[in-house]
Amino acid sequence: MTGASQSKRGPEPPLDLSVSFLGIELENPFILSAAPSTDELDIACAGLDAGWAGVILKTTSVEGNPVSLAYPMMSTMDWAGRRLVGMGNIDLISEHHIDVVEKRVAILKSEFGSKLIAASIMGQKQEDWQSLVQRLKDAGVDLIECSFSCPQGSMGERPGAMLAQSAEATEKVTGWVKEAAGDLPVLIKITPQVTDVVEIAQAVKNGGADGLTASNSVPALMGVDIETFVPAPSLDQYSTYSGLTGPAIKPLTLRTVAEIARHVDIPISGNGGISTWKDAVELFSVGARNIQICTAVMHYGFRIVDDLKSGLSNYMKRRGFGRVSDIVGKALPHIVDHDSLPRRTVKSRIKSDLCIGCGVCYVACRDGGHLAISMDDRQPVVDDDKCVGCGLCMLTCPVSDCISMEVIT
Ligand SMILES: Cc1cc2nc3c(=O)[nH]c(=O)nc-3n(C[C@H](O)[C@H](O)[C@H](O)COP(=O)(O)O)c2cc1C
Repeated sequence: MTGASQSKRGPEPPLDLSVSFLGIELENPFILSAAPSTDELDIACAGLDAGWAGVILKTTSVEGNPVSLAYPMMSTMDWAGRRLVGMGNIDLISEHHIDVVEKRVAILKSEFGSKLIAASIMGQKQEDWQSLVQRLKDAGVDLIECSFSCPQGSMGERPGAMLAQSAEATEKVTGWVKEAAGDLPVLIKITPQVTDVVEIAQAVKNGGADGLTASNSVPALMGVDIETFVPAPSLDQYSTYSGLTGPAIKPLTLRTVAEIARHVDIPISGNGGISTWKDAVELFSVGARNIQICTAVMHYGFRIVDDLKSGLSNYMKRRGFGRVSDIVGKALPHIVDHDSLPRRTVKSRIKSDLCIGCGVCYVACRDGGHLAISMDDRQPVVDDDKCVGCGLCMLTCPVSDCISMEVIT
């Protein structure tokens, strides 16, 4: 296209990234999840001003509920020189009780009428859950998210454990919340740390929730100092289990969302390990209808929403998707149980012109169990009789496209 014809046409109109979720119109699919970035009014406002479609205010509770934080509360999982591949926190719910949060909801609603203003809650008794819902409803909140999955445990029904680790407790408390919420949409935020996440998702549905958030931080021990034997984070030589978040948990989130989407008909808000537009597309493709983000914002700032929106928009133009909802579930038909996978004969093929003779594939194949690659004058040679086609050589090779897997039959 010439420059003249380009200017005649003018710039392309921006793609419509809006999504509809539980009857709520979101200007784009990116929401700030319940976390420190949504725990102060000014900061939440800055996030909305930066272009996020909505906020879920950090989990609140009834007045008088003690919230005793311990500092320092963060630690990181660094790997091969890369900082913050995962982040651990021992945070609890907000120190701001419902009396503060209900006022914030009203202010945010009046200042950001077109954005999603949601609040997260945690209660002990039925009356706590229901009064939290009623007060937020009166304040004008658009949606309520219930934290059933704080890694430090829930209160009340299953103190110390997570509510969402019990299908029975999940269904019961969801029922309480929904009874008070009436038509107001309710999301239940679940944990991936269960034997059968489908059972929990079904309990959420049976309890009457409108959707679920999958999922949350994953309980973890972030590391141990091998000189002092104190795990991280160290507070006067003591530590506790953290909630792991960030890129390290993306594969768990993808699996959790896919598994729910394959088996339970319930709207899903995707959360956990998403940093880029490409991560977001992956999560849409396994069934998430929008994306909540925390760690990537805490690491890189609110402005990442510009990259998320432009990257998603460019991808959709390139692939001819008119709406974000067109991507939702696209990967699901490709996920089957193991016994339904095709059985084929596959062999490793190494391009000698690209090979740098490092021997990584040779060692991986030798000690990885197959002994199918030998070295001949620093060139790896595949023995087809021994190669089972596992793909390890291709995955460990440092040169892209040097090794591929050929399907023989
Ligand atoms: C320091 C910190 C505090 C958090 N507090 C809450 C909370 O109060 N309620 C809640 O539901 N989730 C809370 N989360 C979890 C996040 O909302 C989110 O589910 C989790 O970080 C996974 O998403 P990410 O990988 O994008 O960070 C917190 C996360 C962090 C890092």
